[in-house]
Formats: sequence, structure tokens, C-alpha cells
Amino acid sequence: MTKTYYSPAGNVQALNNLNLTIDRGTFVGVVGKSGAGKSTLINMLTGVDQMTEGEVWIDGFPLHLSSQENITRWRGKNIGVVYQSFELLNQISILDNVILPMDLCGDYTRGKSNQYAMHLLEQLEISDHAHKSPQSISGGQRQRVAIARALINDPPLIIADEPTGSLDSQTSEVIFSIFKSIVSGGKTVVMVTHDNLLAPRFDHLIYLEDGFIIKEKKRRKHG
Ligand SMILES: Nc1ncnc2c1ncn2[C@@H]1O[C@H](COP(=O)(O)OP(=O)(O)O)[C@@H](O)[C@H]1O
Ligand SMILES: [Mg+2]
Repeated sequence: MTKTYYSPAGNVQALNNLNLTIDRGTFVGVVGKSGAGKSTLINMLTGVDQMTEGEVWIDGFPLHLSSQENITRWRGKNIGVVYQSFELLNQISILDNVILPMDLCGDYTRGKSNQYAMHLLEQLEISDHAHKSPQSISGGQRQRVAIARALINDPPLIIADEPTGSLDSQTSEVIFSIFKSIVSGGKTVVMVTHDNLLAPRFDHLIYLEDGFIIKEKKRRKHG
């Protein structure tokens, strides 16, 4: 896939003809310096932005052939997205933040969604704060809430753009291990980081530089 940003100041070739296959149930790390094209790649996978050339298939769904409307509907059920800045709504409770994507999908009754959201908050060890505003908790706790929200529709794929980017190293480690356990539970996680030290810990490492994959490594899974 290729992505070019066109602007009067000049065009930027953010992704240069990338060819990539991601296996189900793996922990994928997209690593590279600032400006390497990591977020651009993520936006191609989530379909929030359109590629210039090429194809993206996710479990049989052709993003490149789909309308924004269809992509949005598909994304709600199939991808959980986590951002560096958490993107939580401060006007509503933590519990309601987690339930929000479920409401948008309209698949569950309110009682059931409450129950499942509480279950996720318990798993992420943050249920004590369920009825507070996201403003009243720490960054690491907010990221746990954002992860619970990403899991609420039980999507097979979780995509996280620098989820530890604004956290201290100890908290980052906790968030990293949460993603690891999500993979152990059978989901696929694609995580972006500029932290080189994390590189050897992914099942599948994609190292980006200037819009090119300069290194790629897949670890054999046991069993
Ligand atoms: N909306 C945009 N318009 C123009 N250029 C952009 C836009 N978004 C990103 N870029 C450029 O594309 C390149 C890759 O950016 P990005 O994917 O955000 O990198 P990373 O996430 O690895 O820091 C950079 O040169 C950046 O300046
Ligand atoms: Mg980025």
C-alpha cells in the first residue's frame, strides 16, 4: 500500500508500497522514529484515512473497496482502537465511556452492557473508579479505561497508536503486559511505539523508516 499526502508545500510519501501480512492471534509491533509513517500505517488499517494506492484486506473485508459509511460500521465491531491521548469523554463516567461503543453498535440491552463493561473494568483492575470522571484518575488508569472501551464490542483486532507514549516506564510496562494478555486470550494486537527497547518483545516486528519497512521479523509461535 502507498500513502501520499498532497499539500501546496510539497507532497509527502508517508508509506512507500508496503507489503504486509499480519497473522491472527499475534502481537504486532510497529516501531520507528517520529515521522517514520507509523500513525499513517495505523490509519490505513483502521480505515480512518484513505490510502493512495493498494489494497487492505482485514479478515476478508476489503477496506480499499468500501465506503466510509461501511468502514465505520465494520470498524465498530471489528477493531478496538487505543490512542496515546486516551480520547475519553470527561463529561460522562468511566463506565459510560466504556459502554459508548456498544451503544453505537446497538447490539446489547443497557443492563447487559453495564454488566459486561463492569466485568472488563474489573479485569483491568479499575472498577472501583467506574462512576467517577476520567479526569479524576491517573494517565495509566485512563489508558486502562481506553483499553476496556476498545474491548467492549469484543473485536478480534486491537490497534493501539503509541498507547504508552505519555506514560512513565513502569506504567508503560503494565499497559504492555495488558496487551500481551489480550493476545494470549486469542486476539490480534497491533501496537505502535517509538520505544526501540520493546522491539524484541513482539511476535511480529515491523520496523518503519521514512515510509519503508526496513526490518521485519516474525517469531515462531509455540504449539
Ligand atoms: N495529514 C498530513 N498531511 C501532510 N503530511 C502528513 C500528514 N500526516 C502525516 N504527515 C507526514 O507523513 C510522515 C509520516 O507521519 P506519521 O505517520 O504521523 O509518522 P509517525 O506516526 O511515525 O510519527 C511525516 O513526514 C509527517 O509529517
Ligand atoms: Mg504517530
